[in-house]
Amino acid sequence: MTDPQIHAIEVQLLLDALRLRHGYDFNQYARASLERRLHTLSVSLGYHTLSAMIPRLLHDATFVDEVIAHVSVPVTEMFRDPSLYLGLRDRVIPYLATYPRIQLWLPGCATGEEAYSLAILLHEEGLLNQSTLFATDINDTALAQAESGVFSKDKLRQFTRNYQLSGGKGVLEDYFRYHDQSATIHDRIRQKIVFAHHNLVSDGDFAETHLIYCANVLIYFNDALRNRVLDVFRKSLVRGGFLCLGPQERLLGSGEESRFAELDPGCRIYRSHPPQSDSSPTHDQDVSS
Ligand SMILES: C[S@@+](CC[C@H](N)C(=O)[O-])C[C@H]1O[C@@H](n2cnc3c(N)ncnc32)[C@H](O)[C@@H]1O
Repeated sequence: MTDPQIHAIEVQLLLDALRLRHGYDFNQYARASLERRLHTLSVSLGYHTLSAMIPRLLHDATFVDEVIAHVSVPVTEMFRDPSLYLGLRDRVIPYLATYPRIQLWLPGCATGEEAYSLAILLHEEGLLNQSTLFATDINDTALAQAESGVFSKDKLRQFTRNYQLSGGKGVLEDYFRYHDQSATIHDRIRQKIVFAHHNLVSDGDFAETHLIYCANVLIYFNDALRNRVLDVFRKSLVRGGFLCLGPQERLLGSGEESRFAELDPGCRIYRSHPPQSDSSPTHDQDVSS
């Protein structure tokens, strides 16, 4: 059992190496779960201490991808929180439908399942042609997989139930081409999504965005980083734009009331700069508030 003081020094040295050598700053992540993930990585690679990974992190340029892939938890599913997709269909789509062009941003998209889910939902609501989805993450391994649009057939079977519960209007399998053990999403869906590297810790906003979908990401950040990211989101959204955090996320605190208004507390869907009257789904009314 490592002395807690030595353990804390080792964690800090490792985070310093990640930041100074590779530009990834994990200092404002929730510490306990980050340390757990660093520990399981070091054990799986046969290191006896955390600091033993530092020389490799400094001198082996490919190792950083392995560390990021491990600490960033790229766990996801299609239509992961069906209630959130129901909320989107009922409460958000009627507003989005009033825009001639729609820009959506999914930060922390992992392997892309949610981006494909949202694109399918937009297709079923007749809005995909006028939409562009930006799906971003710091995990380049996950992004490469996302871009391929390939999923195992086993996974697709699991996603089908989520799709049905989320109000899916068709048959999920119809959006894929099938091979032996895998399936590839159809080009008409994939072409609407731009996958890109973007770090919520250090990178800027996506101006003129109508909807930000960022589920199960802020839970890994401390309050200071959460606030920074919410500021980036506020700057990115058009007036009356939507922020979907999903049911696993904490409610926004009182400090955020001036930035976002709650639209659906259960699903954690918010609007930026809310309109004074919310009676009809037109964005013109929103801008005048
Ligand atoms: C648990 S997954 C969530 C995936 C998806 N949003 C969902 O709810 O199914 C968290 C994702 O956040 C990404 N992430 C962590 N820190 C990030 C950062 N600073 N900037 C962008 N993405 C980050 C991770 O790489 C990971 O893919």
